[in-house]
Amino acid sequence: MPTGEHVALVTGGGRGIGEVIARRIAREGATVLVAARSKDECKRVADSIREGGGQAWPLEIDVGDDGSVARGMEEARMVSSAIGPVDWLVNNAGYVEMHRVLNPKEEAKGVYERQLNVNFHGARRMTEAMLPDMAQRGYGRVVNMASSAGLVGYANLTAYCASKFALVGYTRALAKELEGKGVNVNAVCPHYVQSPMIDGYVRSYAEKTDKSEDEWREYFRSQNPGGRLVTMEECADAVWEALVEDYTGRVLELDGSGSIRRS
Ligand SMILES: NC(=O)c1ccc[n+]([C@@H]2O[C@H](COP(=O)([O-])OP(=O)(O)OC[C@H]3O[C@@H](n4cnc5c(N)ncnc54)[C@H](OP(=O)(O)O)[C@@H]3O)[C@@H](O)[C@H]2O)c1
Repeated sequence: MPTGEHVALVTGGGRGIGEVIARRIAREGATVLVAARSKDECKRVADSIREGGGQAWPLEIDVGDDGSVARGMEEARMVSSAIGPVDWLVNNAGYVEMHRVLNPKEEAKGVYERQLNVNFHGARRMTEAMLPDMAQRGYGRVVNMASSAGLVGYANLTAYCASKFALVGYTRALAKELEGKGVNVNAVCPHYVQSPMIDGYVRSYAEKTDKSEDEWREYFRSQNPGGRLVTMEECADAVWEALVEDYTGRVLELDGSGSIRRS
């Protein structure tokens, strides 16, 4: 099937890594539904893709909320009736809450429920909403944006790690269950990425500690086995590979070395 006939839905497409993924997919000629809670951000990305000659629509979805996913799917189906069915799903929406297991702050109450609800159940909800149609057509691609936090542990990120480990496990198991049905499910696991999310951490840690922004940036770089931050374009390249290559149940790890470890 030519790339131009595919329709992708990218959650968390309004900014950061998801925006770069949405732009990459549109540049390759496919149509993109840019989904997140902030419709203005999705609209900005979709408008700019269209201004560049691509095809894109904004879609308001909170992946952490069943009702919002149902409403978003309804809207996606209306758009689909004009442009074709969504056959590529990129579950990129996610966020991080840091907390300490010992001496947790009051605001850390419910952190596991919140992190799992968006980072794992959000991807599961979206996948379950789209799988029946994909399976019926005998073709579909699901790419889950997990993290190195789905492969190794990080201190002060137990809830985030639990949510991303869950997403990697779900990816591997679902891929096995769907074997032979034409629906591939894979995960991308970047280590720290040069992204607005990391810029935010660098600023906030520098304000709260006696280390400078440069020192914090160097700290994040040094945590990556490849010695540098992963770029958002590398994340988009890995997602693109998982969409167009015919394999399933794989994890694509990006560690800042410039290469992809596939397992
Ligand atoms: N940055 C890194 O170093 C890094 C490393 C490894 C993995 N990742 C993963 O990569 C993904 C993107 O991260 P990023 O750095 O690009 O973060 P970001 O800049 O904060 O973007 C996150 C995106 O997800 C959306 N989102 C968050 N909660 C949502 C919800 N409940 N429903 C729908 N959309 C939601 C946000 O939009 P709204 O707030 O408008 O909803 C935004 O578009 C995440 O899954 C993250 O865990 C990031």
